[in-house]
Amino acid sequence: MTDYANTQKYATLSFSDGTPSLEMPLYSGSVGPDVIDIRSLYNKTGKFTYDPGFLSTAACESKITYIDGDKGELRYRGYPIEQLAQKHSFLDVCYLLLKGELPDSAQQQEFVNTVTRHTMVHEQMQFFLRGFRRDAHPMAVLTGLIGAMAAFYPDAIDVVDPVQREISAIRLIAKMPTLVAMSYKYSIGQPLVYPNNGLSYTENFMRMMFSNPCEDYKINDVLVRALDRIFILHADHEQNASTSTVRLAGSSGTNPFAAIAAGIACLWGPAHGGANEASLNMLQQIGSVDKIGEFISRVKDKNSHVRLMGFGHRVYKNHDPRAKLMRETCHEVLEALGLQNDPLFKLAIELEKIASEDEYFISRKLYPNVDFYSGIVQRAIGIPVDMFTCIFALARSVGWIAQWEEMITDKEYKIGRPRQLFTGYAHRNLE
Ligand code: ACO
Repeated sequence: MTDYANTQKYATLSFSDGTPSLEMPLYSGSVGPDVIDIRSLYNKTGKFTYDPGFLSTAACESKITYIDGDKGELRYRGYPIEQLAQKHSFLDVCYLLLKGELPDSAQQQEFVNTVTRHTMVHEQMQFFLRGFRRDAHPMAVLTGLIGAMAAFYPDAIDVVDPVQREISAIRLIAKMPTLVAMSYKYSIGQPLVYPNNGLSYTENFMRMMFSNPCEDYKINDVLVRALDRIFILHADHEQNASTSTVRLAGSSGTNPFAAIAAGIACLWGPAHGGANEASLNMLQQIGSVDKIGEFISRVKDKNSHVRLMGFGHRVYKNHDPRAKLMRETCHEVLEALGLQNDPLFKLAIELEKIASEDEYFISRKLYPNVDFYSGIVQRAIGIPVDMFTCIFALARSVGWIAQWEEMITDKEYKIGRPRQLFTGYAHRNLE
């Protein structure tokens, strides 16, 4: 952890209102921008900082994921996402995010066995599931199911016990595919499929999603690899909105399932995880290449409130490295399925090309993000559009729980409590 007591660098803050100037410690991370420690600001000056949307605020110290948004780089525990996506499985990446290192072969085997042995969910959970309307959005169902895990697995939710925290982390990673598949099967009125521990993590998920008692699912290695890659690319993304939600909810000391249910709720929004669903819907609405021009004009018209979904990112002001990998996977999947002429893929490629040459997008540094192509891949795999964000949540669970664990074990850990710039009535009396 940062040696806060021995920093040699300072920032001097001066005021125009007569408040004496103030020196504040400046810390450097291993890479990335320095941060100014403003924690004593209020005590010393009676002033807060103002940063809605956290544009310039580092809310925590972390060693897990690093993004260089200007260069378009993403690293988990120091390893570039490209290397991990090409050489490792999602479960290896889970191990890396949780424990800080990639597993050796004995650790890998043990981790895979442990996760595999926890894939089944409490039998009572299906009766809880049955309380939902069948036409409920799967993200609403998933938020409820994950929150309810604290009720079904109360034996390991003591956040001060590291053993219980580890059990809960394994339960979350192992049961997430089962719960996502259950919510899908329920929504289409098919019998729930129990996990099969003879399969890999991703094969098992696909079988639970797509097999039924009358027909087993034929494993296609290209599709399994593609979905595994989607999981890897979405596994963590430093302090994004849902992860910050998990940290903020978890900072009260609530159990991990409650904190992660809050993260899932946040992820659902179209500006965040809901963008892959919104992006595919957008492509379907545009319909054909000749309508792109008209659509782009609407995007550029401020009054229309239309955005090019799957484009732009708060942190990446360059290519999202995940989008490149996803485009590559998209090619592989469509080729494996004989869908090279998929009209939506052609439309997406054309839309990306047109946007990349348009001054509006260039000047605002708007590039395709991971969600621009992941929807096309998921659709080709057979995942329905309204399940896309659940797939994202499945993958991100490991990032959330790793970040939550890091927060709980941080010596600077405190309940998150932002302040405000109050502009309402200062005081008034009833007549
Ligand atoms: N389409 C058109 N214009 C856009 C887009 C877009 N997708 N994204 C940003 N802009 C424009 C804004 O209108 C604004 O223009 P202005 O300066 O003329 O007012 C400028 O670019 C900056 O936009 P902000 O909204 O301030 O950027 P911010 O960093 O807050 O937003 C966000 C990032 C939410 C991702 C945004 O780019 C967006 O809404 N994209 C579409 C949704 C999406 O794909 N989300 C997925 C993100 S990745 C993820 O969660 C996995």
